[in-house]
Amino acid sequence: MGGGMGDGADFAAEYFAQDPVVVPGIDVTKPSIARVYDHLLGGKDNYAVDRELSDVFITRIPGARIIAFDNRRALVRAVGAMSEAGIRQFIDIGSGLPTADNVHQVAQRHAPESRVVYVDNDPVVLAHGGALLAENERTVVVQGDLRDPAGVLEHDEVRELIDFGRPVGVVLSAILHHVNDDEDPRALMRVWREGVPSGSHFYISHFRSERDEESARLEAILQQSLGRGRWRTDEEILGLFEGLDLLEPGILPCALWRTDAAEAELTSWQRLIAGGLAVLP
Ligand SMILES: C[S@@+](CC[C@H](N)C(=O)[O-])C[C@H]1O[C@@H](n2cnc3c(N)ncnc32)[C@H](O)[C@@H]1O
Repeated sequence: MGGGMGDGADFAAEYFAQDPVVVPGIDVTKPSIARVYDHLLGGKDNYAVDRELSDVFITRIPGARIIAFDNRRALVRAVGAMSEAGIRQFIDIGSGLPTADNVHQVAQRHAPESRVVYVDNDPVVLAHGGALLAENERTVVVQGDLRDPAGVLEHDEVRELIDFGRPVGVVLSAILHHVNDDEDPRALMRVWREGVPSGSHFYISHFRSERDEESARLEAILQQSLGRGRWRTDEEILGLFEGLDLLEPGILPCALWRTDAAEAELTSWQRLIAGGLAVLP
């Protein structure tokens, strides 16, 4: 694991302390979603090109950081809820770079035997994630694509860690909005659903539109800069949960999802990302 990064503990200590190393195979001339998001969360695994775009987002989308933090906090609650429901194995697709309270840390806090597979199509995640996880036998990071479910579900390392005879917690946090409509995210969800047994849980967080001007403007910024990024309505997000039983409280802005916060307290930015948890009957 870790693509030949040498001793895991040494490497992890080094990369947390210093600027990121340039990993072979990583294009540092183009921004990556994972690294821009890392910068928004205050991480250090990003390059100048990512910081430039991140700064554009922060200037043009002043709520970008709030959106990212609300998303992470809801993810922590969702993993906790799945753990409490008895889920002991997770596949986190579009996991992003290691940050605070990663899925395995939350899940293993609830149940130390929990196993987690991180999947991301960005090679930087494989390199840095591998270093973080080098000493955790119940966790692995693989390079894979949400749009290639078979490639992930049949991956040797995934099959080694995940028992597909038992329910799986599938985490799709802030990734499906990076799938454009012509890539048919609903059809993709059907394939993922068929790949896991009954009792499996799916957590989705997603950019949320109320058919408002702001989300249309943000969508244009993301499409221009990254070529992807869709703000979907609650109805469209609900469509992604097709064939699943949505659990309480349904799809809500992340800041409200399983919190005591009141809707009136939310800023307009906080309405722009929603989450929901569902179970496969
Ligand atoms: C906004 S980050 C979200 C990270 C984390 N899931 C979270 O919610 O904090 C989106 C991540 O999805 C990854 N990603 C985007 N499209 C992907 C795809 N088609 N397959 C796998 N990963 C993808 C990006 O590389 C990035 O790391």
